[in-house]
Amino acid sequence: MSLRTGLVAALLSAAAAVGAAAPAPAAVVPVELTARHATVQVAPGVRMEAWTFNGTMPGPTIRVREGDVVQVTLRNAEPPRGHHGRPMWHSVDFHAAQLAPNIGFAGVAPGQEKTFSFVASRPGVFMYHCGTAPMIEHIGMGMYGAIIVEPAAGRPPAHEVTLVQSELYGRVHDRRLHGSAAAMRARRPKYVVFNGRAMRYMSEPIPVPVGEPVRIYLVDAGPSLASAFHVVGTIFDVVQPDGNPANVLTGVSTHLVGAGGGAVFELTFPEPGVYPFVTHAMRDAAAGAMGRFQAG
Ligand code: CU
Ligand code: CU
Repeated sequence: MSLRTGLVAALLSAAAAVGAAAPAPAAVVPVELTARHATVQVAPGVRMEAWTFNGTMPGPTIRVREGDVVQVTLRNAEPPRGHHGRPMWHSVDFHAAQLAPNIGFAGVAPGQEKTFSFVASRPGVFMYHCGTAPMIEHIGMGMYGAIIVEPAAGRPPAHEVTLVQSELYGRVHDRRLHGSAAAMRARRPKYVVFNGRAMRYMSEPIPVPVGEPVRIYLVDAGPSLASAFHVVGTIFDVVQPDGNPANVLTGVSTHLVGAGGGAVFELTFPEPGVYPFVTHAMRDAAAGAMGRFQAG
């Protein structure tokens, strides 16, 4: 038995123990991530050559169940000499995992790949991101995403939405955002975005039902700013910091999610209409972190 197979077997038996009390048996969930450069749209008419997982920013939203074994394969598809003459390593750090990061989250050289596994032992919504130094640049250039770990006992039915807030730094030239490490270090974002694009849901409102439960999974990917998340015209019935159903706040208008954090928000839209959502840090909302729900 190889070290890897042994590890997976050990994880599986651990997962089975967790799964014993769960309605659904634990599964091994393969997650394939490829680190590569890709051109993405970041604002109306503005593109950027981002560093991505799987060609999108944020990377794919991963969904597993509490107790599942998440088997991550990370491929580094960068050219051997990099895009600017230096080979670029990448890695992936899951906040849903509990393991020695120097082993599980270790870097992968261009052209290489690695596999590691962890048990999704805690339910919630968590960030994942490239953990290669300088991390501020790997996250700031687009290497982040969300993983949702469903509680073993499930959640009540609801209309679900996933939002990832993050900042983008640099200068726009010829309708391209050119990333700036100096602006990242100065915390002067050009855009603050939900799901990768400034003002994205101002032009494409998210449809939601009236009078029925709506659940928002929010991750604040940073790299540096918090989200003061608020939906105008509503009060959250429930906020669960980190998305764990054991963490319950009720009757909350605005909730702060720090960089690297997540939360589940449950609310009900009282009547048909347009309900803006923002980070209530107004400088950041004006820089693109606002959108709209269209209820009814
Ligand atoms: Cu990276
Ligand atoms: Cu982290």
